[in-house]
Amino acid sequence: MINPNVKPAGGKLGILVVGNGAVATTFMTGVMMTRKGLAKPVGSMTQYDRIRVGRGEAKQYLHYKDIVPLASLDDIVFGTWDVYPQNAYQSAMYAEVLKEKDIESVRDELEAIRPMPAAFDKNYAKRLDGDNVKPCKTRWEMVEALREDIRRFKAEKGCARIVVLWAASTEIYVPVDEKVHYRLADLEAAMKADDREHVAPSMCYAYAALAEGAPFIMGAPNTTVDIPAMWELAEKTRMPIAGKDFKTGQTLVKSGFAPIIGTRCLGLSGWFSTNILGNRDGLVLDEPANFRTKEVSKLSTLETILKPDVQPDLYGHGNDEDTQYYHKVRINYYPPRNDNKEGWDNIDIFGWMGYPMQVKINFLCRDSILAAPLCLDLCLLSDLAARAGRYGIQRFLSFFLKSPMHDYTVGEEAVNHLYQQYTMLKNAIREMGGYEADEEMD
Ligand SMILES: NC(=O)c1ccc[n+]([C@@H]2O[C@H](COP(=O)([O-])OP(=O)(O)OC[C@H]3O[C@@H](n4cnc5c(N)ncnc54)[C@H](O)[C@@H]3O)[C@@H](O)[C@H]2O)c1
Repeated sequence: MINPNVKPAGGKLGILVVGNGAVATTFMTGVMMTRKGLAKPVGSMTQYDRIRVGRGEAKQYLHYKDIVPLASLDDIVFGTWDVYPQNAYQSAMYAEVLKEKDIESVRDELEAIRPMPAAFDKNYAKRLDGDNVKPCKTRWEMVEALREDIRRFKAEKGCARIVVLWAASTEIYVPVDEKVHYRLADLEAAMKADDREHVAPSMCYAYAALAEGAPFIMGAPNTTVDIPAMWELAEKTRMPIAGKDFKTGQTLVKSGFAPIIGTRCLGLSGWFSTNILGNRDGLVLDEPANFRTKEVSKLSTLETILKPDVQPDLYGHGNDEDTQYYHKVRINYYPPRNDNKEGWDNIDIFGWMGYPMQVKINFLCRDSILAAPLCLDLCLLSDLAARAGRYGIQRFLSFFLKSPMHDYTVGEEAVNHLYQQYTMLKNAIREMGGYEADEEMD
C-alpha cells in the first residue's frame, strides 16, 4: 500500500554529519561499501527488519522500504564539518575502527569528503585543539555561516533534501534555562547577543538545519534541540527533530534487560555500570564537565522502566535519594582499548522474601560499529518523517536513543523500555505506510 500523503523519496539525499570522527567515518564507509556490494549493513533496522502489516489472513511481514518510500543508499551524498581538517579517508584511518583493507576499498569516495570549518567554541570541548574553525564573532554569525554551508552543499551536489546529523563530540553540560531556552524569540536574542554560556555551538547547527528545511538529529547527549525554543522552531519550519544520544551498547542492554526485572516483578537494590574506552570520544568524556552531560543521559534510562513510586516494595530500596535503588554510571578513559569499549554492569536484584541475587553483564563491544547503523536509520527515518509531514519531536525514534526527547514542560515522560519503543517505531511506520497502528502479538 502506498500512502498518497507521503511524498516520494526521489532525488539525492544529502547527509551532513557534524563531526568527521570515528562514528561518522564508520557510518560513511559502511554505506559506501554496501553500495558496492562489499559489505552488509548489519544492525540496520531500515535495511533488515520486517514489520507485520495487516491482521489475520491479510497479514504480511514487509521490509520498511516496502511499506513506506525510503531513500535508497545509492542516493545518499555525504558532507561533514569538523574542527580537524583531515578528509574522511584520513579520519577513518586515524580512528582505527575499521581494517585498512575496508577503508581502502572506498578510498576515493572518502577522500572527496573534506570537512567544512566547524562552528566551534573550545570552552565546550577543552580537549580538542583543531584549527579548522569558522572565524565567527558571535553565535548568530555561526548560524548564518552554517546556513550558507548547507545551501552551498545542497546546490553543488544537486540534493533534493538534506538531513543534518550530530555525530560530533559531547559538549559540556548546558542546563535548561527558562529565560533563554523556552521561547524561540529569547533564543534568537541570546544568539544575537552572543550569549556563549547558554548557546552551545550545537544549537547553531540545529538552528541552521531547521531554518534551511532540514531535519536535525542529535546523536550525543547535548541539550541542543531538547529545549522548547527549538521545538517552536521545528514547528515553525515544519521539520522533524530527534535526540538525544545514540543508544548503542550499555544502555541498549540496560533498556532491554531492565524490562526482564520489571516484568517478572523482581526487586532492584542497585545497578552499577562502568566502561573503559580509549578513543577521542573517551578523551573528551574524561573531562568532568563533558562527562556530566553523558552521565545525565545514561542515568535517565532506568527511571521510567523501574519506578519506585509505582512499586515501592521492589524499587524503593537502596540509598539513592533520587532513584531509590542505587544507580551509578562511570566512563573511564583507557587508551589501549581505543574504540573497543568494554562495559561492565553489576546488577543487585532480590527475589522471593527479599533474598539477594546478582547479575553480571560484560559487554565487549565496538562503539562505532554499533552506532553506524543507528546513524543510517535515524537519517533515513527523519527524512521519511519530513516527507510524511511530521514535524517537531519524533518520539517514534526513541528506540534508537538513550535519552529520548519528550515534552517535559507538560509532564510527558520519556519511553525507555526497549520493547515499548519498538512498538512505537513499528506503529509509526505502519501509519506512514497507510496501515492501521496496532499492538497485536507478532
Ligand atoms: N559510538 C557510540 O557508541 C556512541 C553512542 C552514543 C553517543 N555517541 C556520541 O557520538 C559522538 C561521536 O563519537 P565518536 O566516537 O565519533 O567521537 P570522535 O571524537 O571520534 O568524533 C567526534 C568529532 O567531532 C568533532 N567536533 C567536536 N566539536 C565539533 C563541532 N562543534 N563542530 C564540528 N565538529 C566537531 C571532533 O573534532 C571529532 O573529530 C560523541 O558525542 C559520542 O559521545 C557515540
